[in-house]
Amino acid sequence: MISQSLNDSLTRVGPGTPAGAVLRRYWQPAALADELAGSRPVVPVRLLGEDLVLFRDEAGALGLIGRRCPHRGVDLCYGRLEDNGLRCPFHGWHFNRDGQCVEQPGEPEGSRMHENIRTTSYPVVEKNGVIFAWMGPGAPPAFPAFDCFRAPEAYVFAFKGLWECNWLQALEVGIDPAHASFLHRFLEDEDPADGYGKQFRDKAADTEVPMTRLLRDYPRPEISVEDTDFGMRITALRHLGDGRTHVRVTNQIFPEAITIPMSREMIITQWHVPIDDERCYWYAMFTSFGAPVDKPLMRQQRLKEHRLPDYAPLKNARNMWGYDPVEQEGLTYTGMGLDINVHDQWAVESMGAIQDRTEEHLGKTDVAIIHNRRKLRAAIAALGEGDEADLPMRGGIDPAGVHGPAANDTISTDGDWRRAWTAGDAKRRAACTGWDATID
Ligand code: FES
Ligand SMILES: [Fe+2]
Repeated sequence: MISQSLNDSLTRVGPGTPAGAVLRRYWQPAALADELAGSRPVVPVRLLGEDLVLFRDEAGALGLIGRRCPHRGVDLCYGRLEDNGLRCPFHGWHFNRDGQCVEQPGEPEGSRMHENIRTTSYPVVEKNGVIFAWMGPGAPPAFPAFDCFRAPEAYVFAFKGLWECNWLQALEVGIDPAHASFLHRFLEDEDPADGYGKQFRDKAADTEVPMTRLLRDYPRPEISVEDTDFGMRITALRHLGDGRTHVRVTNQIFPEAITIPMSREMIITQWHVPIDDERCYWYAMFTSFGAPVDKPLMRQQRLKEHRLPDYAPLKNARNMWGYDPVEQEGLTYTGMGLDINVHDQWAVESMGAIQDRTEEHLGKTDVAIIHNRRKLRAAIAALGEGDEADLPMRGGIDPAGVHGPAANDTISTDGDWRRAWTAGDAKRRAACTGWDATID
């Protein structure tokens, strides 16, 4: 457990907060490109407690500016999308993509007042279906060479979903390898051949064992963590008792993303992005090392569980996440259906909007959660001292040299699990023909 003041400092992310300052040193997912696909590409974005409006102008360029008109505060989401910017419908002030007011058509002829009117604006970049914003000071850093950014667009599918809780507890479920044996337990195994586009439905590594059975039968993983250039690698070993060890490698990308294996073909890189202190979006980029991704199928699978335009899940606290005690007796551990996202959502939302960490009791299996909080505290302290260079992926590190992260399930037959997973990863990368997935 931690103190209330530490919990506040780790979780709260609005302007001027210590953790908010750390998050603002990294590119943040702001929207899916799909959200701008309609005839009027203008959407509200609330990000790190700031209200913004994202638009694509006639030339195809993106702008992300403050949502309130600097004149008298109306909502620019209702603005007229014209002349490569947004025009406020109240008095016609016009703002370009940089947030600069360039015209005030009702002010006296020759007025130069507009030159001093500028609203917030943040640089934005589109990467394989996700629009990222830079909300930090100074020039934005280059993107790391993660697989989800290196792969061509056909090999990456992006989606998002709303979770009504603080971002840190959302992240902490993703760096907790122990819960998969319980929360996501299926009491019966379905045919792995039916598992396309879903997590934990494939066969485990090179075995004929469905992942569902492996997780169920071996619930006490040996978990270790190590620091990496991007954040932290988490290794979970499940000893099968016959000399074989199942090795599952997952990662935390500092400060709020994870990269995990989804199937033998795909990995998921997923951010847990604060909307504000009490809500967050998960943004997932599913990246294939095999065939191009079947995007219509993956989108349709997920749209069945979400409502547009806010990507709110249909199962939520208001309907007890679909909880069915009969199902819990015979089919799933949670009684909340077969979609494991709902299980994770229940876990993080049922804690309360911001988990009260003064009352928790962390065990051995929470090692990655403990390590991550230390890293976040260290980053907060470093920024407090003005030592931005001490943050992960900052300070002279060339992001273009930060690869992977490797995320996979492998079987080690000789006890050398480190060699097993690195060889498994290299083999998958070498076999990838759709794009160059190799790492020097
Ligand atoms: S409130 Fe926007 S132009 Fe007046
Ligand atoms: Fe999970």
